[in-house]
Amino acid sequence: MSIKYRTGRKHKPLFARETQLQLAKVVRINEDPVVRIEATDNLTFLRSLHDESMKLIITSPPYNIGKNYEKPTSIERYLSEQAATIAECVRVLHKKGSICWQVGNHVGKESETAEIFPLDILLYPLFKQHGLRLRNRIIWHFEHGLHCTNRLSGRHETIMWFTKTDDYTFNLDSIRVPSKYPNKKYFKGPNAGKLSCNPLGKNPGDVWIIPNVKANHVEKTEHPCQFPVELVERLVLSMTKKGDSVLDPYMGVGSSVIAAIKNGRNGYGCDIFKHYVDIAWDRVHQFRDGTLKTRPMGKPVYDPNLPNGGHK
Ligand SMILES: C[S@@+](CC[C@H](N)C(=O)[O-])C[C@H]1O[C@@H](n2cnc3c(N)ncnc32)[C@H](O)[C@@H]1O
Repeated sequence: MSIKYRTGRKHKPLFARETQLQLAKVVRINEDPVVRIEATDNLTFLRSLHDESMKLIITSPPYNIGKNYEKPTSIERYLSEQAATIAECVRVLHKKGSICWQVGNHVGKESETAEIFPLDILLYPLFKQHGLRLRNRIIWHFEHGLHCTNRLSGRHETIMWFTKTDDYTFNLDSIRVPSKYPNKKYFKGPNAGKLSCNPLGKNPGDVWIIPNVKANHVEKTEHPCQFPVELVERLVLSMTKKGDSVLDPYMGVGSSVIAAIKNGRNGYGCDIFKHYVDIAWDRVHQFRDGTLKTRPMGKPVYDPNLPNGGHK
C-alpha cells in the first residue's frame, strides 16, 4: 500500500489498533491512490473486503479452455466456481456500483471442430440470481488472434455491464469520442444554425474497437491474455469517481489496477499465481516512477493503408 497515515499522536497510542486505524482513515494525508494486490485465491481475497466497498468490479475470468493458468474442468464445475466468486463480488459491490465481466467462448475440447459455448450466455443467470441489472453487453472487437479453418475466426469478446440498482454512477461525458461531423448544424426549426451534435463528442456506443495485447503491443508482458489498459480506462472513467475503489478478482498482471490508479481511483486485485502478481507490482512501481508505457485512449487502430498507419 502506498498511503501514509497521520494518527496525530506523538506518544504511545491509547486506543486499540482497530480504533487507531479507523481514526487514521479520516486523516489520510497522502492522496495517492491505494493499491492492494495479493497472490491468493479470489475467494480468500474477497472475504477480506468490506460489504459495498467497491464501486467497480472489472474482470476477465479464465474461460476453462486449458490456458497455462487454469486447470480444465467440467463446465458444471466451472460455473459453480464462477457462481461462488460472483456472489462475493455482489456482496462487496457498492449500491451505486457496477460489475463488468469480460468473457469470450468456452471451447468444448481442444480441437478445431469442437462446439463453442459463449460464456456471457452461460454466466448471465448467475448475475440475475442476485437481482443485478444488465446495462450493456459491450462488444469488444479486435483484429488479431487464432486463424480457424473450420469456423470463422473469433474476433470479438463481450463485456457484460451490470449495476446493483437503478441509481448508479455513469459519467458519459468523460468517455465521449469525436463526432463524425462535429460542425453539423440544424438547418431548420427553432435551433437552425446551432450545432446539432454535442460539442464534447458522441457516445462511444457498445461496439469498441481496441487492439488486443499481442506481441508488438506496448503493454505486452508474459501474461497470455492481458486487458489493454485503455479498455478498462473507459469503464473506470465512466463508472467511478476519483477516490472510488476498483477491484479485479482475476487480476493477472494488474491491468485493471493500472487503469484505476492512472485515473486517481484505488486499485484492488488478486491472482492465484504469484509470478503474475510480481509483474503487476512491477507495473505499479513503473507507473509511479513515470516509466510505464500504456497505449493512449483514443489512439486510432493502425491502418496499413494510411501514411504511418494513421498515427501522428
Ligand atoms: C484471463 S486472465 C486475466 C488477465 C488480466 N485481465 C490482465 O490484464 O492481466 C485470468 C487470470 O485469473 C487467474 N486466476 C485463475 N483462477 C483464480 C482464482 N481462483 N483466484 C484468483 N485468480 C485466479 C489466472 O492466474 C489468470 O491470470
